[in-house]
Amino acid sequence: MLKQAIRSVGVMLKYARVPTLLMLLGQLALSVEPPLGIYFTKNLVNAIGAYIGHTAPLSGVLVWGALLVAVMLVSAGSGLFHGIMGIYMQRALNRNFTAVVLEKFKNLDYACFENKEVLNSVERMGSEPHMRIYYLFSHTVNALSMLISLAGTALVFTQISVWFSVIYFVLLAPMLWFDFKNMEVIQKLWNTEMPNWRRRTYLSALLADKNAEFELKVFGASRFILTKWKTIADNFRRDYLRARIGASKYGVFRVLALAGWAVYMILSMIHRLSGGMVDIGTFIAVITSMGTVLSLSSSMSDSFSQVSEDCLIMRHFHIFMNLPEVPKGDDMAPVQNPRIVFDNVCFKYPNSDRPVLKGVSFEINPGERVALVGENGAGKSTIVKLLCGLYHPDSGDIYIGGVPIGKLSSSQLRSVFSVVFQDFCSYELTLRENVALGSIDKLHDDAALKSALARGLWTEDIPLSANLGKLEEDGIDLSGGQWQRIAVSRSLLSDSAFIILDEPTAALDPLAESRMYETFQSVLQSRGCVMISHRLASAKLADKIIVLDEGRVVQTGTHEVLMAQEGLYSRMFTAQSAWYTEGEGDGDEQGQGRGEDRLQTAVHLR
Ligand SMILES: Nc1ncnc2c1ncn2[C@@H]1O[C@H](COP(=O)(O)OP(=O)(O)O)[C@@H](O)[C@H]1O
Ligand SMILES: [Mg+2]
Repeated sequence: MLKQAIRSVGVMLKYARVPTLLMLLGQLALSVEPPLGIYFTKNLVNAIGAYIGHTAPLSGVLVWGALLVAVMLVSAGSGLFHGIMGIYMQRALNRNFTAVVLEKFKNLDYACFENKEVLNSVERMGSEPHMRIYYLFSHTVNALSMLISLAGTALVFTQISVWFSVIYFVLLAPMLWFDFKNMEVIQKLWNTEMPNWRRRTYLSALLADKNAEFELKVFGASRFILTKWKTIADNFRRDYLRARIGASKYGVFRVLALAGWAVYMILSMIHRLSGGMVDIGTFIAVITSMGTVLSLSSSMSDSFSQVSEDCLIMRHFHIFMNLPEVPKGDDMAPVQNPRIVFDNVCFKYPNSDRPVLKGVSFEINPGERVALVGENGAGKSTIVKLLCGLYHPDSGDIYIGGVPIGKLSSSQLRSVFSVVFQDFCSYELTLRENVALGSIDKLHDDAALKSALARGLWTEDIPLSANLGKLEEDGIDLSGGQWQRIAVSRSLLSDSAFIILDEPTAALDPLAESRMYETFQSVLQSRGCVMISHRLASAKLADKIIVLDEGRVVQTGTHEVLMAQEGLYSRMFTAQSAWYTEGEGDGDEQGQGRGEDRLQTAVHLR
């Protein structure tokens, strides 16, 4: 814990040096205020006594009085100073530190997101990671400054009697130990509660999500979700309360012990004053400082438990910052002749024992149009994710242009592939930004954006500057099919060597789907394409069809070749064409009718 706390000071100094140094100085000044206060009070009272007794001039009173006022001013002004420095530090952190965190997110190896520990870390840092580190720093500095104050005060007490300090610290030590123990309990609770916390966050997001809410309402299931959320929330609150109450049980002991010490101090001071062992100044200074000491003791305990909670988050931060990254190398040369080779690739998802790809081998030449077909769960999307470098094979190799894929930087991979993922994202940004994300350097190239949209069959009359989605007041909400056209346009914007389309037409109506395939034909002429679709009519257009079954390549060839074979492809195609041609009475699955007609009745293969 100490290491984390010290680290936070290091991080602060790195990202917000000047305000941090000023804050440290300010805290140091503040921490010597209580002992100095005692010392000045004592001298002031004695100077007043001497002045009244005509044994000393007024100047003594003025000097000590001025010094006392000065330390009081430090104390009074410290809140303001703290606040202002805090704002400066948070601003500097937000600018510098948050940028580092976001950069890390950007470079993170995607497979990390499969790891529950990592998810914990990412989530615990929250949406404002810079505030976490700021809190840890300020709580740590606070606790340290209190320790210095107490040590200084003890030094003053020791001048009168060593026992005052000895007894005080003998009482304080077990208290601090209890504080540490309690922190552990709370930390453990946070760790075990993490999955529940994630569930709770998910459920509340579900209730606030427009689409989910719509469906839940139709099913009449909102209340069920709400009750589920409440149960988890109540359980957490109960456990947290229990831990907190358990942690503060010894508070009674603390109060009693400190009260005993205070009584001992007062009686002892009265005894010393009457015996002439201390002067009146010391007496008044010590008695008035006792309130400060008592309140310091209890705030120190709070401070420690805050530091411990913050430290937990710092630990998550360090786990996060040490996660593996994809190679950066933005300046590496684009891949030449990007031939794709899968060589006996085996793959399991992290956290899963089930092999998804079992020795997959195939080759795709630049400019080739390939259809990847297979039933649900065959591993098609997984191949796409491996191609994009989101995951890495467990064994076997993937080469792009002769280079192992792991050696390629993300920008090199971007120059090879642009992808429409099956579960593509709808960004609540402007139409311009939504498309430009495919190749951000074209953000202001209206002609390129509009051409990509046209090729993606976007026909809506919506200006590029329009906000899409529900985030903005004037946001235009789109249908699934419309979002999909934007996703396709986005991938068409980039000049990558290959376009990967993972079920790019699932949300389109059959007519639009057929038109989309026609445009793919025309726009992809010079580019390679890996097309994944349930609808085999689209595979007919491919130069090569790779048939996947339960993580294995079972057939490869053109439509004609595969239809001539007894195998999965011809079985799937025949099954599907039965649907297409039903009622037409011609039964010719390779019929010459335009794809459009057949696709009217296309169905998903299960
Ligand atoms: N993130 C994941 N973690 C574990 N298993 C996964 C993950 N994503 C997909 N799978 C499993 O991998 C298998 C192949 O999935 P996928 O490649 O998406 O199939 P499809 O051919 O339908 O695109 C499926 O059985 C699926 O359950
Ligand atoms: Mg898929």
